[in-house]
Amino acid sequence: MSILNAKPVVLAALAASALVMAVSMAFNDKRLCVVCRVYPVSPEYTVTCSFTCIQIFCQRGSGDPRMCDVCHRHPKRQGQQQCGDECAGVTNVACLICKSRPKDGRHDLCSLTCKKVAMILAPCILEVPRGHTIYDMVEGKFKRAWKNKSSPIPVIKRVFKIIENEEFQKPYELYRVDLAKATGAFGVGVYTSSASNKAYSYCKPNGALLLNKVVLGRVRHVSGWNEVMSCPPGYNSVIFERMDGILNETILYCDDAIRPVFLIIF
Ligand SMILES: *[C@@H]1O[C@H](CO)[C@@H](O)[C@H](O)[C@H]1NC(C)=O
Ligand SMILES: *[C@@H]1O[C@H](CO)[C@@H](O)[C@H](O)[C@H]1NC(C)=O
Repeated sequence: MSILNAKPVVLAALAASALVMAVSMAFNDKRLCVVCRVYPVSPEYTVTCSFTCIQIFCQRGSGDPRMCDVCHRHPKRQGQQQCGDECAGVTNVACLICKSRPKDGRHDLCSLTCKKVAMILAPCILEVPRGHTIYDMVEGKFKRAWKNKSSPIPVIKRVFKIIENEEFQKPYELYRVDLAKATGAFGVGVYTSSASNKAYSYCKPNGALLLNKVVLGRVRHVSGWNEVMSCPPGYNSVIFERMDGILNETILYCDDAIRPVFLIIF
């Protein structure tokens, strides 16, 4: 009687411990770093465990091409690069560095960790996939800046984000906050245009174009060629609204007044 009574209890206990083992294995497996597969994931490093592993991850993913491009944990769904709808939803808003988390608002990356990785990889260019919100933003800027309505807007083939290192970025930031330092080499200018048709006229066909950020400072507006031959004293840039701006020319006189942000390929 007592033996019969004891049996189910023992079985239940065994079943329970088996269940606990199964659960803890699944949990561990799910949470292991997708690069080293040894240490548990630390949320600071997205799907990896450490700064060492996330650096590897940002350059080559988890190393297993069969796995989802976003979570790197589940196999890709047939005909897709992601495992399911949740991960597919991240792709077009993904951080350009880790590609495994949504980017942070207006920024192109998701976190300070990815920014740190970017600074280590810099200078480099990161391809922005078609369909990504950043791709749409760059394409939108290019199209809106196209001022020659009688000329068709060319088709963009690829977009790259330009990652500069801090050393290269710093003089631009300094110039921006302290325009008094803008005493660059007068006489030699950096020629830019806010009209994409004008910029594009120098790069077709199969060319490339840089979308830059610029510091204009105090602008001298001119209305004809040769009106100024160098940066006019007291000014930082010159704008010539040639043909009502269809051929806008914006001339900067200091290297630190301009930095590239995106590379567009046609
Ligand atoms: C606008 O585009 C047309 C067609 O390509 C071209 O003939 C014309 O010169 C362009 N206008 C300007 C101001 O560039
Ligand atoms: C010409 O370019 C300047 C600076 O790039 C910009 O502020 C201005 O609005 C442009 N003019 C037109 C008509 O687009």
